[in-house]
Amino acid sequence: SIPSRVKIVEVGPRDGLQNEKQPVPAAIKIGLVHRLQDAGLKEVEVTSFVSPKWVPQMADAAEVLAGMERRPGVRYSVLTPNMKGFEGALAAGVDEIVVFAAASEAFSQKNINCSIAESIERFAPVVEAARANGIYVRGAMSCVVGCPYEGEVAPERVGYLAGLMKGIGVQHVGVADTIGVGTPRKVQRVVEQTLKHYELDDISGHFHDTYGQALANTLASLEMGVWQYDTSIAGLGGCPYAKGATGNVATEDVVYMLHGMDIDTGIDFDKLVDAGAYISDFLQRKPNSRAATAMLNK
Ligand code: HMG
Ligand code: MG
Repeated sequence: SIPSRVKIVEVGPRDGLQNEKQPVPAAIKIGLVHRLQDAGLKEVEVTSFVSPKWVPQMADAAEVLAGMERRPGVRYSVLTPNMKGFEGALAAGVDEIVVFAAASEAFSQKNINCSIAESIERFAPVVEAARANGIYVRGAMSCVVGCPYEGEVAPERVGYLAGLMKGIGVQHVGVADTIGVGTPRKVQRVVEQTLKHYELDDISGHFHDTYGQALANTLASLEMGVWQYDTSIAGLGGCPYAKGATGNVATEDVVYMLHGMDIDTGIDFDKLVDAGAYISDFLQRKPNSRAATAMLNK
């Protein structure tokens, strides 16, 4: 049955901003995190401890985490691609780390020059170190429905990846439709495959809105009982590997839908729209959210 409560993991500061061309100062990122927690978000993916040569926008990871006011009851997560990233995350005192791998073999090869299984092996020491330090480990499975290189991805490939993640001790997995090509039935098949290795409580949805399907996909997984979703304020983001791929589904749109269904999120919708307006003003563009646009035009 449909859950009565949903946890939103706000990924805008990380997934949303990581491909942003214009530099965003740490102070603005901190201002955004503050507004998000003011709006009632209880989990924020703040930044990535990655190579600044690969992702220059995340070079200020330590500065952002040091400058933020931490709220009790809010969990802060970061992406860590390797041990060096994990050490940064540990020093910064995060609650949770995110490791990632693609469900598409072609994507893995083209992107990081190794197989899916090899990419998981590389993460094993990171996961081990995190768990030894009491840091929760989330896994992001990307390209679960489609891949910019090989097209459609078989749902069984997601089951395979979920099994590998489980094998190295990843505690929770997100099913990410990175390029936003998924539709409801396909997404349900992917969740079914993931359920072979993870409990419902340890699975989240991560949908991009490229083809306008993200809310439908959210509803389709809600109907299966999935109650955790990654979303991005003002629909920030995009995928550098897929031309025209848009950002994650906008937090504002998902929250509007959930509240309209009487599903509790703990989020103040008006404050959420304000947070989206804050970062959109800085970036000098309109929020990529229908619900936010409707509110701002009222
Ligand atoms: P590499 O160049 O092969 O690594 O990158 P390397 O070990 O040869 O190191 C090269 C340089 O980077 C060295 O510096 C290292 O010290 C430094 P130099 O000696 O040349 O001055 N370095 C680092 N610096 C800071 N933090 C680190 C770090 N590691 C190395 N952690 C590497 C390999 C994995 C590091 C690189 O490719 C990288 O950082 N990749 C991350 C890219 C990334 O963040 N991608 C996006 C994540 S996945 C995603 O977005 C999908 C998801 O959102 C789901 C969805 O939306 O669908 C999760
Ligand atoms: Mg994403």
